[in-house]
Amino acid sequence: MEDPEDEIEEDSEEFLENESEKRFNTSIDELEKIKIDYKRIKRIDQSKKRAVIESVFDERTVFHLNKILVNGPLKRIEGVISAGKEANVYLAYDLDGKEVAVKIYKIDSNTSRWMKKYIIGDPRFKKIPHNVSKIIFLWASKEFKNLKRAYKADLRVPKPLFIRNNILIMEYIGFESIPAPVLKDIKNPKEPVNLFNELLSFIKLLYQKAKLVHGDLSEFNILYHNQSPVVIDISQAVAIQHPKAEVYLARDIKNIFQYFDKLGIETPNPTDFYYDVLNIEV
Ligand SMILES: Nc1ncnc2c1ncn2[C@@H]1O[C@H](COP(=O)(O)OP(=O)(O)OP(=O)(O)O)[C@@H](O)[C@H]1O
Ligand SMILES: [Mg+2]
Repeated sequence: MEDPEDEIEEDSEEFLENESEKRFNTSIDELEKIKIDYKRIKRIDQSKKRAVIESVFDERTVFHLNKILVNGPLKRIEGVISAGKEANVYLAYDLDGKEVAVKIYKIDSNTSRWMKKYIIGDPRFKKIPHNVSKIIFLWASKEFKNLKRAYKADLRVPKPLFIRNNILIMEYIGFESIPAPVLKDIKNPKEPVNLFNELLSFIKLLYQKAKLVHGDLSEFNILYHNQSPVVIDISQAVAIQHPKAEVYLARDIKNIFQYFDKLGIETPNPTDFYYDVLNIEV
């Protein structure tokens, strides 16, 4: 990992080159002053960002975030993409300067209470911790595992990259610093019939190949990128053996069909599709 001081040094040198070209008559003293000011501005920017993060997250999260920034895989956190009740999502850069998305769950006892509902009954999680932060860590690791399973099944979800406690790093969906919008914010998606079919095949493959049910699938958790859907927020997804898996599946199907009905697309019978996903002949 590069020393942040070196980075400041390099940037300020580049800045100085441009500046000195513009005013080659400037005295050495003045150049030194510009260099110092530039360093100071960079420091203020970084410390502002850190202050915001410190005011939102507990001490342990800040500690681990700092470790990730010092030892990798992150180089820099750019800004918040979304600030929610349970988690914040940030745009950050990895060591190669590539954009990544960082989802940080908040350690909160109310959140951990409803999370339990989805963890109990999932054969992958035998021991349920009592400790609030441990439940949240388990939850974040559940999202990571679910992403891995879906990604391995060739489904369009962000590629999972790294997990530590409540900090999850995944592939960033967007163009440069502009994150992809959620489907709910797209008034008239292009080729809605294709979009609908892509989502039907997502639901089916998630069940049949990845053996998961999303459980919170709707236009709020689908990013619209390159005119195609990328499904996010897969933390509550359950294994198909979960006692509520079929209830969640029916709900996901209902949400997607409703969204496309409203768009005016002719949709098939959702019950037939439900049985088709379960692979049951009716
Ligand atoms: N990989 C990603 N690339 C780009 N943007 C993302 C990515 N993951 C999440 N986002 C953005 O962050 C928002 C929140 O993410 P997500 O739905 O996973 O969190 P959440 O659990 O719904 O958070 P909360 O419910 O607390 O708001 C998304 O609506 C999307 O705008
Ligand atoms: Mg969401």
